[in-house]
Amino acid sequence: VNKGNGIKGLVDSGIETVPELYTVPIDERLEPNKIITHGSIPVIDVSNWDDPKVKESICEAAAEWGFFQIINHGVPLEVLDAVRESAHRFFGLPNEERSKYWPENSPTDTVVLTTSFAPRAETVFEWKDALTMRFGPHQYRDSVPLWPPVCRDEVLEYGESTKPVVRKLMEILLKGLKVKEIDKAREYALMTASVVTINYYPRCPNPDLAAGIFPHSDASVITVLLQDDNGGLYVRATDGNGWIHVKPIDGAFVVNIGDMLQIMSNDKYKSIEHRVVANGSKNRVSVPVFVTPRMDAVIGPLPEAMGSGEQPFYKKVVCADYFRHHFGKKHDGKKSLEFA
Ligand code: SIN
Ligand code: FE2
Repeated sequence: VNKGNGIKGLVDSGIETVPELYTVPIDERLEPNKIITHGSIPVIDVSNWDDPKVKESICEAAAEWGFFQIINHGVPLEVLDAVRESAHRFFGLPNEERSKYWPENSPTDTVVLTTSFAPRAETVFEWKDALTMRFGPHQYRDSVPLWPPVCRDEVLEYGESTKPVVRKLMEILLKGLKVKEIDKAREYALMTASVVTINYYPRCPNPDLAAGIFPHSDASVITVLLQDDNGGLYVRATDGNGWIHVKPIDGAFVVNIGDMLQIMSNDKYKSIEHRVVANGSKNRVSVPVFVTPRMDAVIGPLPEAMGSGEQPFYKKVVCADYFRHHFGKKHDGKKSLEFA
């Protein structure tokens, strides 16, 4: 496949229509009749993490919705604004500068630029480029000087500032599964290999024809995402029929359960499908933190999470194998879970 300079490069070249490679078959488009306009995912005020009501709301939202927003999480708005601005700076660079970070050119494996999701496996591409930076488990700090100068400080600060939020969320979610404590070994295995991704969805000349991201569930343990005020993220309704918009709330994080936590919870928490539409007027950015296990960690239903006599719904899988499976195919709903 010829990825060229990604979708940003294509848009910069002056295209005025959506190329065939990006044209979504009619029945896969998010038509207005598939959008549910009543209700929304829970919004949880976490200004007091230790309030039992807060903990309960988080675990309930994870079980019922798989998706929720948190406000008053303590990460300053300036840090969030700064990383969003740096995202626009990076994707505003000329092609020659951006292309230094394609996998085959990148000076370090802790930063990589990609386009669409799995171009080798896709017949229709997603209207999206992404820059991913790895936050562990090893000495990523040594390679930070090799990250793009226009965004490295902002991404680093954002990644570090979200760590306590991730830690709190994980503690609460795992307590909800009867796990007594996240000891060092568990912490190391479960959540030390996070990545921060800058998603960039350039303005699209005909947004009805293209897709920002096709329906998928995340392979992560959890994902903590910052969006901007453009909106465009939709979550599958729990009854499976229709899609609910995740309304932008300035300063909020959108949190969702990933496949790994659905597996570990033996289906008590749900990894829910979501998708992003293309935007006809603005360049949209989002900045997810994907919390993931170490590649060699073995994932399976946690003993604590299962009631006596409860059967595990999943077999044990090595994290790296799951990821290889997930990233080797196009986005296709929740199908990755069949691997475990
Ligand atoms: C994603 O699903 O990975 C990104 C969602 C978004 O950009 O809002
Ligand atoms: Fe996602």
